[in-house]
Amino acid sequence: MAEDPSHSHLGDHNGAHAMHQSGHHDHHDDAAFLETNRNHWNKFAASYSSEPWQKDMLNKINAFIYANINWIGVDFVDSATTFEATDPAQVRKVRVLDYACGPGTITYALGSHATEYVGIDLSENMVQAYNLRFNPAIKDANNEDESLNAHAEIGNLLTTEEPPAAFSGPKYHDFDLVVVGLGFHHFSDVRLAAKRLVERLRPGGVFLILDFVTHAMEAEEHPDVKASANTVAHHGFSEQELREIFAEAGLKDFALGRMGDEVYIRGKSKREPFLARGSKI
Ligand SMILES: C[S@@+](CC[C@H](N)C(=O)[O-])C[C@H]1O[C@@H](n2cnc3c(N)ncnc32)[C@H](O)[C@@H]1O
Repeated sequence: MAEDPSHSHLGDHNGAHAMHQSGHHDHHDDAAFLETNRNHWNKFAASYSSEPWQKDMLNKINAFIYANINWIGVDFVDSATTFEATDPAQVRKVRVLDYACGPGTITYALGSHATEYVGIDLSENMVQAYNLRFNPAIKDANNEDESLNAHAEIGNLLTTEEPPAAFSGPKYHDFDLVVVGLGFHHFSDVRLAAKRLVERLRPGGVFLILDFVTHAMEAEEHPDVKASANTVAHHGFSEQELREIFAEAGLKDFALGRMGDEVYIRGKSKREPFLARGSKI
């Protein structure tokens, strides 16, 4: 299934984030970069799936995950047997951390395959959108999504120092799956990110990312393109980079699958999504 997705990076037209692309790590700039991400995603939380290009992208991603559900390698629950379980206490638990969850694209795609979802995101508006989407108590009447055992919290685990104490309890550890959907290219230090997230897996648990194959940068004349470019630290990933990042984070059985089709951001910027997975040793 895996092909080498590497193409050479084109020059970085934007000095402001060249530093992030090179993997340089600096506390002050990281704080500013996180703030840029938080503000940007707060602004777009309410319109994440409103445009036709967004709907098309989300539909394709949903179908891609669905088509590869067994390939992910998590022993998901079979909703056919748990739907009307006679003894709910006997139902096997499958716990998922949806990191950089946004409004819940990945949680929604995995749906009833898992029994518990914990979402974490920097942006409070994204967290609110996630919780409105999946929590039946606060969901409005027009929201047709099935309710899931899914709840998100505001946070950032990708810190060089110990992650916040609020995330130290058992609720935030021993996951069967930790997944990052379209978030990895927004993290300044992806090696640290992988390490921090793999810490949250149980041994044998799966780390999964959905992101874009290495791509060229766009000219950034349009204000929307410029604003989102400032939140991007990596212009996609190559298979070789990912293999190294996954191995360094303590993962084995690396596998990568490309979608084999493209999505168009704002109807223009062509991207090919991939899924990459590894199991915690
Ligand atoms: C492109 S959205 C993806 C949302 C969702 N996972 C999806 O697949 O649609 C990127 C998300 O990453 C979040 N994010 C960026 N940096 C983050 C960090 N360091 N920690 C947590 N979330 C972060 C943003 O707030 C935003 O919601």
